[in-house]
Amino acid sequence: MTTASAASTIRPAERLRGRLTMPSDKSIAHRALIFAALSGGPSSVIVRSPGRDVHSTIECLRALGVSVDHSGEKHLVRGRPSRDAVLDCGNSGTTMRLLAGVVAGLPLTVTLDGDASLRSRPMERVATLLRAAGAQVTTTNGHAPITVVGRARLTPAAHRLPVSSAQLLGAAVLAGLSANGVTTVDTPGPTRDHTERMLANLGVPIHRDGGTTTVTGPARPRPFEMTVPGDTSAASAWLVAAALHPDAQLTMVDVGLNPTRLALVGLLGRMGVEIRTRVRDVSGPEPVGEITVRGGNPLRAVSFGGGEVAELIDELPLVAVAMASVEEPSEVRDAGELRVKETDRIAALVAGLEAIGADVEERPDGWRVRRGLARDARITTHGDHRIAIAFAVAGLTGVASAVELDDPDCVDVSYPDFWRDLAAVRE
Ligand code: S3P
Repeated sequence: MTTASAASTIRPAERLRGRLTMPSDKSIAHRALIFAALSGGPSSVIVRSPGRDVHSTIECLRALGVSVDHSGEKHLVRGRPSRDAVLDCGNSGTTMRLLAGVVAGLPLTVTLDGDASLRSRPMERVATLLRAAGAQVTTTNGHAPITVVGRARLTPAAHRLPVSSAQLLGAAVLAGLSANGVTTVDTPGPTRDHTERMLANLGVPIHRDGGTTTVTGPARPRPFEMTVPGDTSAASAWLVAAALHPDAQLTMVDVGLNPTRLALVGLLGRMGVEIRTRVRDVSGPEPVGEITVRGGNPLRAVSFGGGEVAELIDELPLVAVAMASVEEPSEVRDAGELRVKETDRIAALVAGLEAIGADVEERPDGWRVRRGLARDARITTHGDHRIAIAFAVAGLTGVASAVELDDPDCVDVSYPDFWRDLAAVRE
């Protein structure tokens, strides 16, 4: 849980040092728990320090009649989804979209709802995919609450996703497990590949070839045991913090090193940052290892768009803060998807960057930013964990002279121990 330090002002640290263990990866944890439920179990999933989003998935599975018992970090999952239900997905888009895919392939009627942020996000895209597979789906003017009337046998479909989204891809694949034949999903650009890696490891006939994922149903994952690796996106906060600080060395251990999640390492490398990744364990579906980053190098401006945006989608708030530390201007293009995340992240970032004194220009699909005169700022997070963490890093590294967040507790969505770790690395 958050500590007292969460509520106070974040000021630049003199030095940053430490070795940190991240919370379990949110994307992998959602999938591990859902695949465990589909396996019928008993399956066991070790989840370290789950955030609110992962708790949402656990509660939804329970509401569907799945037993999820935990003792410490070990979650024992038994039984398959078998009950009609109204699900509260909280703030979690991944929970809503993946579970919609699961329910589509079961003879159940399920309504999926969430908080005000989740109710504002687009759900017609996932509804369209599941209808193409034969499920009946209604949305509320394109949004949650959505109701899915599933069927035990769906139709194999050839999907073409309108955007590069691992959540949509996952929903289409999960429905494909109940279809009799080959389902294909084409994505316009790169996405994280956890669904494919994990399901293939559990005996499901699935593979990704370039931008096309193919799954052959009917299929179900076998029961399994898995330790979910540390969250690469949580580690990104410390990659950027160390990169921006003149006197820093940080190491994150037991962290996921899936190449589809490591675009930030390449980007920071182009900006001039020294980062070392070392894979230590390839025994599971996801490579695990450590990342070490050292600060003190002057950073270069960088501009990008296209496929790199999808690969960096959760890291863009931190990238914006890194860009705001550089004298020369940097640009992000093609990032319109950020406007439909937990909040409109382009608007929230631009407002925050202005508040900390950066010279920033908002674009419909991104921004242009360069360093300004660092200021004390109060940041409106809109309850968005990634906005909160990005501006905390701005305060910790001197990109802002001081930062106060309106809702520091919102980091709990993905990283409940963020404030404890921030206090631990500050010297
Ligand atoms: C996720 C995919 C991403 C990401 C989200 C988690 C996932 O969303 O932003 O935090 O686990 O599939 P999109 O792929 O829909 O952009």
